[in-house]
Amino acid sequence: MERILVVDDEPMNLKLTKFILENADYEVVTAESGMAGIELLQEIPFDLLLLDIEMPDMDGLEVLRRIRNIPAIAKTKVIFLTASNSQSDLTDAARLHAARFVQKPCLPEVLLRVVREAFEETTASLLLIVDDEPMSRALTKNAFESLFRVECVSSGQEALSFLQESIPDMILMDLYMPGMDGLETFLEIRKLDNCRHLPVIFMTAADDNATELELFQAGAVDFIRKPFIAEIARERVKRILELQRLQNFLHEEVDRRTAQLLDSARKVKRLTKQIIFALAGAIDAKDAYTNGHSSRVAEYSREIARRMGKDEEEIEDIYYAAMLHDVGKIGIPRDIIGKTSQLTEEEFEVIREHTVKGEKILKTISELPRLSIGARWHHERYDGGGYPDGLSGNDIPEIARIICVADCYDAMSSNRCYRKALSQRIVRDEILRGRGTQFDPIFADIMLAMIDEDTRYRMREM
Ligand SMILES: [Fe+2]
Repeated sequence: MERILVVDDEPMNLKLTKFILENADYEVVTAESGMAGIELLQEIPFDLLLLDIEMPDMDGLEVLRRIRNIPAIAKTKVIFLTASNSQSDLTDAARLHAARFVQKPCLPEVLLRVVREAFEETTASLLLIVDDEPMSRALTKNAFESLFRVECVSSGQEALSFLQESIPDMILMDLYMPGMDGLETFLEIRKLDNCRHLPVIFMTAADDNATELELFQAGAVDFIRKPFIAEIARERVKRILELQRLQNFLHEEVDRRTAQLLDSARKVKRLTKQIIFALAGAIDAKDAYTNGHSSRVAEYSREIARRMGKDEEEIEDIYYAAMLHDVGKIGIPRDIIGKTSQLTEEEFEVIREHTVKGEKILKTISELPRLSIGARWHHERYDGGGYPDGLSGNDIPEIARIICVADCYDAMSSNRCYRKALSQRIVRDEILRGRGTQFDPIFADIMLAMIDEDTRYRMREM
């Protein structure tokens, strides 16, 4: 039975981890501090150490640093189990040869998988020697097998077959071989999906700078001339493997963080949408007669933007801006908004303020700077007769010109307390009449096309 030591300053974490691991038939010993952990490691042999990073007296990285300096326990296999997300911790953990770095809290199945994988990994790297000369093969094997696991094959073809079965950590490749030579074999290996980044060192007796350059350019990681000095060759291989290990570790980390970021971005997007919908609901609730107005105007505006060929991001901006175009109504007294009889000039003046009030509210959302544009200018007219600024033509921001058509269309095609939705023919005539005076002709034309396609008059308040 494999024995695991868990070091964590939180008794609750210790209990939980112990429980999970014991249920999976591991023998588990726990320690509440780094120092206690180091002492235990020196007393009894452990197959694996699960180590917390944030601990009060001595943090996990320091614990591992010390372990790596005590020869009897230096090779201890370690998994960091931590709530930390710091990049420097990760890099340190990789430098200290931690087998894994697991984010707390983690699901039991994740913990068990990581522990199982750590046990399955053999610490010694696997080298594949590809060399047609039996003597040279034996010498190379001899030079490396004290430090690494070594497998040998005698041709490029055999190397490719070997790679179908297992992937070594590195290939030492003879350059001159009958049949497929080293370079050809290398290029074939690079075509294999899981071998694109497999480090390959070429070995040859040739003293040929041009060949050496060619091999480097082809992507070889190093070049060892035969005969070689075993110690130096081992050192070179060790360094390259170490670099490769760090690189892989960082790649995995980048992938993990990217996935996390994408997930957060998705959450923020969802949240934004929900808040905008909630706010739109509040606007419509203020004015009981315009139920669903905000979302219908948003739908129509989005469709106009789509037909204009806008990209996804712009379409979304327009949709949200349209959804909140009347947000300023929240600041207008209910008795004026809900008034069904003729409004006085003063009351009209108060209603007109919803544009400026809306802009003011939405300006505070700095992450969506275009949101406030629709609110301020959706009552401008193309001929300059609108409010609040009397802008005309293309001086009116495009978003507002789009919302303006959609807004008026919905006002006419929805029910009011004093009338039913107008007929599609009347609505169409009104849009046509406002083309170039109230509305930008381009957007009026798109709206007219939408009306004409809507043969069953579905675009209205149902
Ligand atoms: Fe409005």
